[in-house]
Amino acid sequence: MTTEIPKPRLLSPRLQDVLGIDAPVLQSGMGGVAGVDLAAAVSNAGGLGVLAALRLRPEQVRAAIRDIRERTSKPFGVNIWLHDDVRTPPDPDDVPDDVIRGAQTVLNEFRSRFDLPPSLARPDAGADLVNAALEVMIEEQIPVFSAAIGVPESDLVERFHRVGTRTVAMVATVEDAIAAVDNGVDAVVAQGTESGGHRSYGTKRARTDAVGQSTLTLVPQMVDAVGDRVPVIAAGGIVDGRGLAAMLALGADGVLLGSRFVATKESLASPVWKQRMTTGDRSTTLTDGFTGQWARVLASEFTERWEESGADTPPGLMQSALGRDVFQAAANVDDDQLRPLYAGAGIAAMNDVPGAGEVVKRIVAEARDRLHHLNSEY
Ligand SMILES: Cc1cc2nc3c(=O)[nH]c(=O)nc-3n(C[C@H](O)[C@H](O)[C@H](O)COP(=O)(O)O)c2cc1C
Repeated sequence: MTTEIPKPRLLSPRLQDVLGIDAPVLQSGMGGVAGVDLAAAVSNAGGLGVLAALRLRPEQVRAAIRDIRERTSKPFGVNIWLHDDVRTPPDPDDVPDDVIRGAQTVLNEFRSRFDLPPSLARPDAGADLVNAALEVMIEEQIPVFSAAIGVPESDLVERFHRVGTRTVAMVATVEDAIAAVDNGVDAVVAQGTESGGHRSYGTKRARTDAVGQSTLTLVPQMVDAVGDRVPVIAAGGIVDGRGLAAMLALGADGVLLGSRFVATKESLASPVWKQRMTTGDRSTTLTDGFTGQWARVLASEFTERWEESGADTPPGLMQSALGRDVFQAAANVDDDQLRPLYAGAGIAAMNDVPGAGEVVKRIVAEARDRLHHLNSEY
């Protein structure tokens, strides 16, 4: 007689308790990609949808929070970066002339393609929007605050807790995970180097340090370091149920996915970006040439030329201001070689553009089947 092995439970009670979700799948806040439609679709499917607040004015953050509340009664998060130089933008006048000249000289090569005038100008000082966005999130008593690229300080965590908001911090080192948990966060996201987008460090590192550790090696270390105190969520290179099953086996409580949700119907990414994420050559690389901070993007003519030039970037996010005319001109004509298409190293396993709710359901079903199958085979 064969005994039926029950399908495994995937969601740990503590992650369910902290985030109020039904599926151990978080969608990453993604600037310019994760708006109300995407976040609401993920939350409605039982995962945690997360709005991206980076670079939004306070009234836009408030409107998006109110809008998502109209579309879902489930918990959702709002994400922002806490990078030192993003929270308090540096003064462009303090940047050495040769750094501006070096960066502008490379950008000028591309300006000529779009008939843009060459420039050696300094960028504008970036707007200081992070602190204003944080105030709106606290006033609106959002369900979950998602911090990245900088460890939230204990005062900030406490202010969120006072209004009933849970806090999640994405970190790329064990040291930052311990600091975040000491500061009171309710969960940490372990960001491995496969991740698409920016590296979650509060200050810029040298390229070799910015590479960081793979998800496979980072997650168990973080589980050992802080897993007895808070849930650990794995991020980087996970695009399907195999990835979720693997991360649960490493001791994570759940997963956070960015790239997989870029290529969904509800994401705000352009059609060309979604196509590049799901077809053809999907090589990715780390570059600081688009924003000034290290990020994983689809490899392109721009990333190759920027690296070869050896140019330095100005601090903070000034590089995005320096190159704005080039990147915008490329976006206007759907050029995929001269603008940032953030993407993680796991995308080669993606080959469709489904609805975001379907992604959550599929990942959970596949992980459950995989673990059940392993259980019954061995
Ligand atoms: C297009 C894109 C934009 C991103 N923007 C943000 C952001 O605004 N805030 C943030 O915390 N992380 C951002 N990330 C990084 C993710 O939080 C996460 O580390 C990563 O997506 C996980 O790896 P994966 O892309 O392989 O799933 C972004 C990632 C991508 C792909």
